[in-house]
Amino acid sequence: MSFKTRPIWFIPAVALTLGLLAAAVMAGAGLLRGPAPADAGAPRPAPVRSSGEAQVGGPFTLVNHRGETVTEADFAGRPMLIYFGFTYCPDVCPASLQVMGAALEQLTPEQRAQFQPILISVDPERDTPDMLAQYVTAPAFPENLTGLTGTLDQVRNAARAYRVYFARVEDDGVSSDYTVDHSSIIYLMDREGRFVEVFPHGSSPASIAARLQAFLETSGA
Ligand code: NI
Repeated sequence: MSFKTRPIWFIPAVALTLGLLAAAVMAGAGLLRGPAPADAGAPRPAPVRSSGEAQVGGPFTLVNHRGETVTEADFAGRPMLIYFGFTYCPDVCPASLQVMGAALEQLTPEQRAQFQPILISVDPERDTPDMLAQYVTAPAFPENLTGLTGTLDQVRNAARAYRVYFARVEDDGVSSDYTVDHSSIIYLMDREGRFVEVFPHGSSPASIAARLQAFLETSGA
């Protein structure tokens, strides 16, 4: 048998091998077309704890609107008002931050100065520190509002600690625009970073201001 001649079974054997390979490739592709990947922005549900105590808040590492890495320790000693949102939000977030600003305006300057208002972005991809630095200066927002962002993992961890839901939602159409579904809640944390209470979406500035004053009275400030 020379190199130029093949036994009679050679060609069918090659055809069979190629056929099996093609079938394997198609099967593999079929597997890859299986369930769609889960939304990358959605935090996994936090494990349920049964201590009977509200497990909200905790350590976080994020980046502020000046580009500095910060943790909860940087805010120790000041009660925090925390809202999770994003700067591209057309309505809910700006309205909520205006309510926070209006509530603080109803306090005396001395009372107001004790609180640290914070916006934590749920859209770190677009909410760079520079973007937040512009956003937090809106006149109707709290005076000393601090914007926090970070990597997607950092933001996810913070959202998980606060039991905040958020999920990226693609807009229909040809553009690459997207929005972010998220819970709209203002959290009050005490001087040690412990959870005090939430002000649900729709709370009035007056009702929040009254709760903040009550908090200052009972926390001995
Ligand atoms: Ni929003």
